[in-house]
Amino acid sequence: MRWLHTVAVACLLHAAAPAEYLLPGDVVPSHYHLKYAFDIDPATNFSYFGVVDISLNVKKATSKIVLHANDILIADPIIRSGDTPSHKVTGYKVNDTYSLMTITLDQELQQDENYTLTIPFYGNIKHGLDGAYISTYVDQMTKKKEYLITTQFEAISARKAFPCFDEPMYKATYSIVIGHHKDYTAISNMPLENSVSENALEDHWPWSQIEKKFKKPKSDFVWDSYEKSVAMSTYLLAFVVSKFSFVQSPSDLSNTKFRIWARPDALDQTAYASTTGPKALTYFEQWFNLSYPLPKQDMIAIPDFASGAMENWGLITYREKDLLYDEKQSSFLNKERVATVIAHELAHQWFGNLVTMKWWSDLWLNEGFATFAATVAVNHVEPTWNADKSSAVNDMLLILNLDSLESSHPVSVPIDDPKRISEIFDDISYQKGSTLIRMMTMFLGDEVFRKAINNYLRKYSYDNAEQDDLWRELTAVSKKYGVLPGNVTVKDIMDTWTTQTGYPILTVTRDYEDKSLTVSQRRYLSLAARSTSLTSWWVPLSVVCEPETRGAPPALRWLAANQGLTSLHRFEHGAERDQWLLFNHDMIAPYRVNYDPRNWQLLSNALKSNDYTRVPLLGRVQLLSDAFALAWTNHLDYSTALNLASYLQHETEYLPLYTGLRGLMQIENVLKRSPDYGAFQKFVRKLIGEIYERSGGLATKKIINGHDLNSATISSWACRMKVPGCEENAIQLYKQWMDTEKPDENNPYLEWTVTEGSGVRKQDVLPVIVNIIRSPVGYYVAKDFIYTRVDEIYNTFKGQYRRMGEMIKTLLQQFTTQRELDEFLEWREKNAQYLVDSKLAVNQAIENAQVNINWITKNRKTVVDKLREFSTPRRQPGTPWKGQPSFMSSIFAIHNISRARLRPFEALKRNRTHINLSAHSAAISCNVQISTALIPLYLHFMRN
Ligand code: BES
Ligand code: ZN
Repeated sequence: MRWLHTVAVACLLHAAAPAEYLLPGDVVPSHYHLKYAFDIDPATNFSYFGVVDISLNVKKATSKIVLHANDILIADPIIRSGDTPSHKVTGYKVNDTYSLMTITLDQELQQDENYTLTIPFYGNIKHGLDGAYISTYVDQMTKKKEYLITTQFEAISARKAFPCFDEPMYKATYSIVIGHHKDYTAISNMPLENSVSENALEDHWPWSQIEKKFKKPKSDFVWDSYEKSVAMSTYLLAFVVSKFSFVQSPSDLSNTKFRIWARPDALDQTAYASTTGPKALTYFEQWFNLSYPLPKQDMIAIPDFASGAMENWGLITYREKDLLYDEKQSSFLNKERVATVIAHELAHQWFGNLVTMKWWSDLWLNEGFATFAATVAVNHVEPTWNADKSSAVNDMLLILNLDSLESSHPVSVPIDDPKRISEIFDDISYQKGSTLIRMMTMFLGDEVFRKAINNYLRKYSYDNAEQDDLWRELTAVSKKYGVLPGNVTVKDIMDTWTTQTGYPILTVTRDYEDKSLTVSQRRYLSLAARSTSLTSWWVPLSVVCEPETRGAPPALRWLAANQGLTSLHRFEHGAERDQWLLFNHDMIAPYRVNYDPRNWQLLSNALKSNDYTRVPLLGRVQLLSDAFALAWTNHLDYSTALNLASYLQHETEYLPLYTGLRGLMQIENVLKRSPDYGAFQKFVRKLIGEIYERSGGLATKKIINGHDLNSATISSWACRMKVPGCEENAIQLYKQWMDTEKPDENNPYLEWTVTEGSGVRKQDVLPVIVNIIRSPVGYYVAKDFIYTRVDEIYNTFKGQYRRMGEMIKTLLQQFTTQRELDEFLEWREKNAQYLVDSKLAVNQAIENAQVNINWITKNRKTVVDKLREFSTPRRQPGTPWKGQPSFMSSIFAIHNISRARLRPFEALKRNRTHINLSAHSAAISCNVQISTALIPLYLHFMRN
């Protein structure tokens, strides 16, 4: 509710006087003529000159022009009407808080008149990851360090490259000219129009002046002009000046000219993108029923890149790993990622580029839609991958987790400080956004949805829109087709999902006598005790029961926002007393469901039978996810959850298996550094043993589609769970590493993350740290590193503080004791200055850690007992054990044991000890050879 209130206030503010962080809107741009001269040379410190002529239209008479400029040196602006200067500029200054540049004139600009504002500027292009920045790589042929200039303007960095009206609603056309050394190639959003050897900036920056900085003859330079663009937002503008090469896509795959660019050494990895790009573009033209409006599409792999990719219109930029794919080296997951990223950015060419959000508070719509649309296109281009189902599951599971925290936020967030924009490029915008769009396609039907999207795109082409505009189009078509109940609008339904944080848990209680049930709703929270709010949702109920699994799916029902909240909502169904009934069998919406114990039992029985596929695939996923989550929060006992999960022994499909293991991973996370880990491992070994055998042991076969992921996932679990064979291999690899001279010195990854020129690129610093945190041994090392070197890490993340939050989140996810959390809170106090930009993430992290700690206190003993019960073959007391040989081990983390630590494995080998099980204890003498924080003990139980 608090959020709802803030949304309303923010909207009111927007409608009245523009807030101080917004442009006043009395002068708007219609066209930019933007000219540059770049010198890509470290010897001249990458200096550049620029001039921008902005055609302005005056909406309201004013003697001030306010636009954005950040970190650029500005020379005197000139204002003209036609060809002659019309006003005198009396002053210009930049306010650093919001990067607003105010130009004051001697008299007012006339309302409805057009003027041209010319601003010359200059500076040095920096090594960064936003604005126009320098990226580097080493050419493998020449071994020479090469440089390129590239851009990243979303969300608010166009203002770092040229003075402009840098808010998405100020759409304008662009004519761009780029002067550069002849050895380089420049590309931009539009095709090259011509290339000349005359300085295009001569009127403001005569060559004589440029030459003083560049120290090169004019004859070395060319000025490339690009065709005038369509009307677009500043954040979508792009150019790249490089020595890259390109491959042209096969012309039969699309009507649009498609090129894939990369540094010359990587050009042989562009083949997959060069067919996937045009195939996806052509598919989107059909799906949106609108042609792609530009004459070309370039896609380029940039060595230094902040995010995964950026949808600049006609020139999509990518991180290398998200565009390049090497048949021989890359994995299936790399290929899937490349296809997904390409499809996502191409979806934006319509949804985002052609029609753009008015303000960043609707970012979720942009990103959520592209995330959803990508799955549709990938499903078309690679039909064997089941991308639609696997993305739906991935997104849904992520959201069900994240959005159960009190510190989560609504998808639709009021943004009243532009500095906060980068914070909302998060899982809530992407994954919850995508989940909600998918939900709409399901309750409206594909035809209604696509018709309405087409109407929306046509109506707001080259313009901006808000989410209410989309709801209106969707409602209009829905009403024509009669797909919504009564007078309900899409807005009524969607507002409950987009303006409120979280999602509901439905409690279903069946009456077994009269084939009816009651259902209630309430917000679901991980810290269950605190769920007192009365928020409610319009919940689409897709319900299926045992007798209905053979035919067409039953019609959708609704639980209205005013139903099931203060009173129970009742309806009838078709299940007999011994037949199961399942909610959300197609995972239509993010919600959890709890049933009465008997229905849980019926569902478990169904899953454990040979006919378990009668429970639909996504239904099995939903059940596993719900059972583990509800048990975690004490809404369900672990007996029920583990009993249900035990059916996984014969599950052959990847998605339920993955979901079950993910549920177990939450338990693993809190047990992995405890003596109870062995019991956990034994339980999982029983679940995955068969499928591990079936997939032929450690994954060696090539993975070519989603189904083959079974073997890869199982392999990684099998080793962790100490399935025989898997571990021997791992030990061998470990030994090989230990046998190298000074092995610790060969593992300096953490150090490299903060060392300039180490080979770990800035963009890869976060994944390196995060992966070390996640490993049981690395956790201690990484925690220490973060606590003591935060200043260096902070400096490395400069400009991308979102990453600081991600790092802290991963660290706190590992916490299982109050002592760890207290230590963190104390550290946070002292290091607050490094965390100011990641408050939201840090709060979420603390809440998550608290959830873990509470869980341990409450549930550890019961769960471990249950794990033992479900994995131990029952035998009569007193009879000798006659099981198969099994391999079991526990890892004990021993804290603060002194500076001297044990050498693992080797120590054991030399002091091989046979333990008498009946004695219940054993003493092992060890010899400390190399410092370590862990003493792994392998207990191998042999059959007598
Ligand atoms: N518009 C974003 C790129 C972006 C992200 C700009 C954050 C500014 C800040 C782009 O469309 C995007 O969403 N990229 C994703 C990849 C996508 C496949 C989910 C990314 O960069 O992670
Ligand atoms: Zn996107």
